[in-house]
Amino acid sequence: MKLSKFGQKFTQKSGIVGLMDDIGNALDENPNMIFMGGGNPGQLPEVEKVFQQKLESLLADPIKRQSILGVYQSPQGDKEFRVAVASFLKKQFGWDLNHNNIAISNGSQSAFFILYNMFAGSMPNGDYHSIHLPLSPEYIGYKDIGVNENFFTATRPSIELLDDNLFKYHVDFSTLALSDKTAAMCVSRPANPTGNVLTDDEINHLDELAKEKNIPLIIDGAYGLPFPNIIFTEATPHWNQNTILTLSLSKMGLPGLRTGIVIANEKVIEKYTNVNTIVNLSCGSLGPALAKELFKTGEIVSITQDYIKPFYQERANKAANWFRQYLGKLPYRIHKPEGAIFLWLWFKDLPITSHELYQRLKIRGVLVVPGDDFFVGIDDEWSHKRECLRVSYVQPELLVKQGIQIISEEVMKAYQGI
Ligand SMILES: Cc1ncc(COP(=O)(O)O)c(C=O)c1O
Repeated sequence: MKLSKFGQKFTQKSGIVGLMDDIGNALDENPNMIFMGGGNPGQLPEVEKVFQQKLESLLADPIKRQSILGVYQSPQGDKEFRVAVASFLKKQFGWDLNHNNIAISNGSQSAFFILYNMFAGSMPNGDYHSIHLPLSPEYIGYKDIGVNENFFTATRPSIELLDDNLFKYHVDFSTLALSDKTAAMCVSRPANPTGNVLTDDEINHLDELAKEKNIPLIIDGAYGLPFPNIIFTEATPHWNQNTILTLSLSKMGLPGLRTGIVIANEKVIEKYTNVNTIVNLSCGSLGPALAKELFKTGEIVSITQDYIKPFYQERANKAANWFRQYLGKLPYRIHKPEGAIFLWLWFKDLPITSHELYQRLKIRGVLVVPGDDFFVGIDDEWSHKRECLRVSYVQPELLVKQGIQIISEEVMKAYQGI
């Protein structure tokens, strides 16, 4: 088979594709694996019940059913839904926007593919532009997304050591360097993999830098504000004409509906929509139809406040305490859990790499994600990159506790040189 450069880059099994394949195979071989690896949301019966009722009533209505199943939506997404999202955001945060500032995507991942490649890569004048990540480790799903190679630059964070074996990354503005080859900056807030939430000051500073350089600031709100609102600190939602905010229904508990939302100035939305038409023709209708009902009833806010946020906050605290209990006096640190659905662990001077630890844990029946691959854009040798692990805590409590015990045993053996 003769493959294009695109074909070669996107069919290879390096990086995230290889890792996901490995995780999938491990689950096939041992279905009893404790799955603390992927980004699946937790199962929340109360929330599932709301979704079920809404879906049943939508499908029972012949007109709505026909419009959901039998009609292509416009490539920018159902107008009624975009109006509902815009008026919600305007009312909640006073943002100056309307439905022309909103576009729908088949999951926010596909929006990132379009947006990143729209701004970065080979430029018409022969230059090469890249996306800058002001704080890496960042979401592993960005890593291989560029049609061209070397798509990301990144700034190494500063590390603040906190009490109770915690630590926190901060954007290191003293080393953050943008050039005239920087196409855009992007941050996830709350961050995958770390659960870090950039402070309002950090976001405002990044916003100023982006405006100075005349480049967009992309904020990935897959876990954040205003929904699913998996955020345990005080943080102000941020948007203006120079910001591209992406939201998603996935972490509300609806990853199967593949619905993402892009909020940006009208020019960006128009261009995004043109690409989306070529790549996807139009987006799935079920997610917007269901979410529209949640906007109408206000449940978009109440289910996040009453069920989603408390579930993850309680789990994060419990999981951190189980680690404290089982890791005892080992030289570990946990990134301060401020949001999202993972704990990010740092084992200082661990004698084995996080990849080796991942392999050992797989043999013990626990799947996690090794930290190295999250350091997108950081190519230099930094031992910290090999000392971190991402652990999801969404599985049933007993399994999470059992998984944490096994992880702790393997970490202890590694420190003992066994
Ligand atoms: C930070 C972040 N952004 C974006 C995505 C993509 O989510 P989706 O395509 O389901 O909207 C994920 C998925 O795990 C994520 O963790």
